[in-house]
Amino acid sequence: MNSMAIEAVIREAGEIIACAKHPKVFEKEGHANFVTQTDQDVQDFLIHELSLLMPEAKFLAEEKENAVLDDSLTFIIDPIDGTTNFMHARECSAISVGIVEKREPVMAFVYQPWRKDLYFAQKGEGAFLNGQPIHVSPLPLSQAVVNVGTSPYREELRKRSMSLCGLFLEHAADIRRCGSAALDLCDVACGKAEVFWELELSPWDYAAGALLVTEAGGRIGNCEGGPLQQGGKSSVLAANSECFEQALALF
Ligand code: IPD
Ligand code: CA
Ligand code: CA
Repeated sequence: MNSMAIEAVIREAGEIIACAKHPKVFEKEGHANFVTQTDQDVQDFLIHELSLLMPEAKFLAEEKENAVLDDSLTFIIDPIDGTTNFMHARECSAISVGIVEKREPVMAFVYQPWRKDLYFAQKGEGAFLNGQPIHVSPLPLSQAVVNVGTSPYREELRKRSMSLCGLFLEHAADIRRCGSAALDLCDVACGKAEVFWELELSPWDYAAGALLVTEAGGRIGNCEGGPLQQGGKSSVLAANSECFEQALALF
């Protein structure tokens, strides 16, 4: 697997996002759930270019119909994680590309195209930001910044998320809501946040970020204390090892 060639494709796809002007917006199922023409264009570009590099690979991607994940080498792609931010020109979104084999993550890329920040991890080889090693922070929950996801598309999860925000505010230093789960997980991996949780995410939201967190020395699972099952929807809790159990207890 040639990580440099994959990175080059992702950086080029990032230019489509960074240069996009007033893309067409379409509504999807759920509350305030949108997709833009740029999401589709970036996904088409990635699948086309990555298939040329690795013809044997399969693709699970947000803006297409997907088969159930099997043991094949599979790219799990979110072409724009943080579409709402993108529609509001907040320059806080990312391309998320995880590679799994036998349903286990083996390689991860998260790319923030305005900052040109490339987060990369490979199983057993560590996690990196623009080539420099990154690590989770050592701070305890009492001093933690907690990134939260609000599960905006489902009413019952939105409400529970808001009461959990209150609870975390009591136990941690503060909370943050950035609008991109992939970047939230990168924050934990590089120690800009100690904890991230969201009550429901899709495989493309967390496939890459999960490997980045564990390769940076952190822990990740669902909010019930179980492991993440690659390929399906799941709640997600990621944290440094100092905070993980304390955060889990708050659910
Ligand atoms: C969303 C973002 C957001 C999270 C949502 C995700 P999208 O992804 O990651 O932070 O709260 O649950 O669906 O729709 O922008 O790709
Ligand atoms: Ca997403
Ligand atoms: Ca998306």
